[in-house]
Amino acid sequence: MSLHAQTHRLMAPDIAAMKRVKPIVALTSYHAHTAAIADKYCDLLIVGDSLGMVMHGFETTVPVTLDMMIVHGRAVVRGARRALVVVDMPFGSYEESPSVAFRNAARVMKETDCGAVKLEGGRRMAETTRYLVDRGIPVMGHIGLTPQSINVLGGFKTQGRTRDEWPAIEADALALSDAGAFAVVLEAMSAPLAARITEQVPIPTIGIGASSHCDGQVLVMEDMLGLSPRVPKFVKKFGAVATAIEDAIRAYAEEVGARRFPGTEHTYAMKDEPRDLAAVTKKPKKLST
Ligand code: KIV
Repeated sequence: MSLHAQTHRLMAPDIAAMKRVKPIVALTSYHAHTAAIADKYCDLLIVGDSLGMVMHGFETTVPVTLDMMIVHGRAVVRGARRALVVVDMPFGSYEESPSVAFRNAARVMKETDCGAVKLEGGRRMAETTRYLVDRGIPVMGHIGLTPQSINVLGGFKTQGRTRDEWPAIEADALALSDAGAFAVVLEAMSAPLAARITEQVPIPTIGIGASSHCDGQVLVMEDMLGLSPRVPKFVKKFGAVATAIEDAIRAYAEEVGARRFPGTEHTYAMKDEPRDLAAVTKKPKKLST
């Protein structure tokens, strides 16, 4: 039996059962200490491949590797106790075939101890989704704007703003649901289309830039905290963390520059000698030659 049996960690079926019961609260998470804070308020923590942009300074998510996802996934699982942790499969790790996807997703599950993986793509990923779910790997889908396809899409473009785009995106959502996905992320999608999909599919929709019609919401944590220098229109900044970090670093630099930090309360005295910092810090006399 698990040592942590007293804390029930949510599993994919628990999230699926929240549809039409309660709004699902989700954030991305890449770091153990912030995961521990987010875990108190979130049902889902997604270790998204946007970590390539917000943690590593890449321009897109395309360069992110499986090893990077595993390092951050493991940190988040260590920090969180209750939320379901979902780890993104990065570009190139699952598209080739269902068996390649299984091998890489199984590695992610074993090495991070996460509860599910997320794949980008609708109908084209339905067969792979079914293959993974049948073999014990819960899958979250991701449709609408799929940032790993940026080089085909030609930019981070909102999806479904004209009605002729709707049937394909609706078919994507239904195909993933039929294939056994437990939830689906709708990214950067017109509000009426997100509402229609949420109504049509039996699994929860988790919106990011897809309106309050979705069954749940996710944002990139660094964006909503006010840390990311540039954010999409759909992000509301709930904090001003970049300003708080800069204020703290400026104060530190000033105190170090003025020799006000470290003070005596931040230094170690000798165990059996009186604290005499002045004597310790006095410049050594020049030796006469
Ligand atoms: O990588 C990411 O940040 C995502 C979010 C949409 C959850 O996939």
